Amino acid sequence: MKLAGKVALITGASRGIGKAIAKEFAQNGATIVISGTNKTKLDETAKELGAFAILADMRREAEVQNLINKTVEKFGKLDILVNNAGIFPKIKLLHEISSSEWRDVLDVNLTGPFYATKYSIPHLQINGGAIINIASSAGLKAYENFNADAYSASKAALVLLTKCWALEYAKNKIRVNCICPGVVETDMTSEFLSSPAMRDMMNYAYPIGRFGTVNDVAKAALYFASDEDSPWVTGAVLPLDGGESIK
Ligand SMILES: NC(=O)c1ccc[n+]([C@@H]2O[C@H](COP(=O)([O-])OP(=O)(O)OC[C@H]3O[C@@H](n4cnc5c(N)ncnc54)[C@H](OP(=O)(O)O)[C@@H]3O)[C@@H](O)[C@H]2O)c1
Repeated sequence: MKLAGKVALITGASRGIGKAIAKEFAQNGATIVISGTNKTKLDETAKELGAFAILADMRREAEVQNLINKTVEKFGKLDILVNNAGIFPKIKLLHEISSSEWRDVLDVNLTGPFYATKYSIPHLQINGGAIINIASSAGLKAYENFNADAYSASKAALVLLTKCWALEYAKNKIRVNCICPGVVETDMTSEFLSSPAMRDMMNYAYPIGRFGTVNDVAKAALYFASDEDSPWVTGAVLPLDGGESIK
């Protein structure tokens, strides 16, 4: 029970990586708040995990502000924020991306974490806390034929903001860390893992011999969330990719 007594907010936790993090944190004693935009799916997941659900579109500042306010109104405090909600664009070369597609990805993946962090900081400053940013291996280097530039830009920015925020708020005992997963099987990646041949190829890309699972990410998030396990860790950027980034 590494998170007993803690209140944790995980954005975009109706499914995929966010849901696995919420489950792991709940199993470790935390009170969980989850957010998303699809009410049916969010309510279903909240019921399954015993979490509190709040609808909030990360692109809308007022909704994100309301998400943080409602969390604190309901549970009296906030200890852990996981900036997880994210979207992946249609694969296109840079010159084919429309400005609205570009903006949409940046709005969810980068401005969303900015809003959530901005409104969480005053609460996290009270007792100290932890922020965990879910970036991507695509935020660490360029990949041939990846062709998701808005996504790469949003994640690279989140990697650097992790370090900026870690320095800005270390004096308040707010630890800010970042996880950069390689390919993890979720709805986001289902089209790249839809045939046995594609799965074999993807497994082969990882030195450890397989692509990632949502539990791989949840375990890393628990480490960063736990004051017991990582009290001296802030500004860390963890490649979580079966060794792919060191090839
Ligand atoms: N899967 C991977 O291989 C991988 C690798 C590296 C990094 N990541 C990152 O990990 C995070 C989670 O990805 P995932 O694979 O778990 O994706 P996913 O299965 O597609 O889930 C995305 C989650 O984000 C929420 N979301 C999407 N747009 C939103 C918005 N505008 N406002 C609020 N919530 C929104 C979704 O809820 P609603 O549908 O209800 O809005 C859902 O709960 C993302 O930041 C992603 O970039 C994933």
